[in-house]
Amino acid sequence: MKFNGKDIISIKDFTKNEINYILDYAEDMIPYAKGDKFKNILKGKVLSSLFFEPSTRTRLSFESSMNRLGGRVIGFSDPSGTSQKKGESLSDTIRMADSYSDAIVVRHPHEGAARLAAEFSDVPVLNAGDGAGRHPTQCLLDLFTIREEKKKIKNKKIVLLGDLKYGRTVHSLAYALALYGAKLTLVSPTSLKMPNEVVGECKDLGIEPISTSNLEKAIRDADVLYVTRIQKERFPDAEEYNRVVGSYKVNNELLKSAKEDLIIMHPLPRVTEIDPEVDKTHHALYFKQAFNGLPVRMALLSLVIGGRI
Ligand code: CP
Repeated sequence: MKFNGKDIISIKDFTKNEINYILDYAEDMIPYAKGDKFKNILKGKVLSSLFFEPSTRTRLSFESSMNRLGGRVIGFSDPSGTSQKKGESLSDTIRMADSYSDAIVVRHPHEGAARLAAEFSDVPVLNAGDGAGRHPTQCLLDLFTIREEKKKIKNKKIVLLGDLKYGRTVHSLAYALALYGAKLTLVSPTSLKMPNEVVGECKDLGIEPISTSNLEKAIRDADVLYVTRIQKERFPDAEEYNRVVGSYKVNNELLKSAKEDLIIMHPLPRVTEIDPEVDKTHHALYFKQAFNGLPVRMALLSLVIGGRI
């Protein structure tokens, strides 16, 4: 399997075998992610970390991944301090990062920006989220988390809840879960339904997602509840946002009808959609899920830049 130099733009660019290979390698990375073991496999390598949109987990875990493997990071977390302010195009910014580093991580508000970046770069480009488009490394860490907790993904009953229209993490994840043969239930406000394109991708893979607005019923036999935030920043007008804000909430009352071994995931950040009281329950997996971003991104950087533990 050849990953050296490969761009990571969409989960759809990978076969199931390739995904399994990455997840297996990420498992080997856990002691290195925890700092229990150390190997300088990316010594002398430089990562460009270009964040045109806010991020906590994706940016910090990519930067930590590079540091933990002995590499270095350059970049920015706010484009207002860059020459974009003077009118420089994304393609020219990418050309510069390409000449200064061995790989580029890019988050951008426009769908398709990462794919465009890859066209202007010889070094591998990793998509850290492009608008309401895709978020492949989040998808890999989500699959990793479900596999770690449930041992397999096939036939698991997985509820995707929330803003399925603008939430890019669920677009990548729905496709990948269908690839693994999971059973999908989609719960969202009517105006925030999963795009037909993504539902179509699931159907092409032989999975017919069930759509419902009845969350209580949906979680009764669920193995995984994957919650998402309403993506306020992607709404074209405030009125539309105000109509749906607060329309769903996961709390301990709701969880009374859930299976004992239900796990709750969330890509984070959360706002009001999961009550903090849930954090103390054994269902809450979202902080461990966020940690899993580290071994998964360490594995990816190691594979695309070159060098194995
Ligand atoms: N899950 C995720 O993408 O989080 P950040 O926006 O904090 O990177």
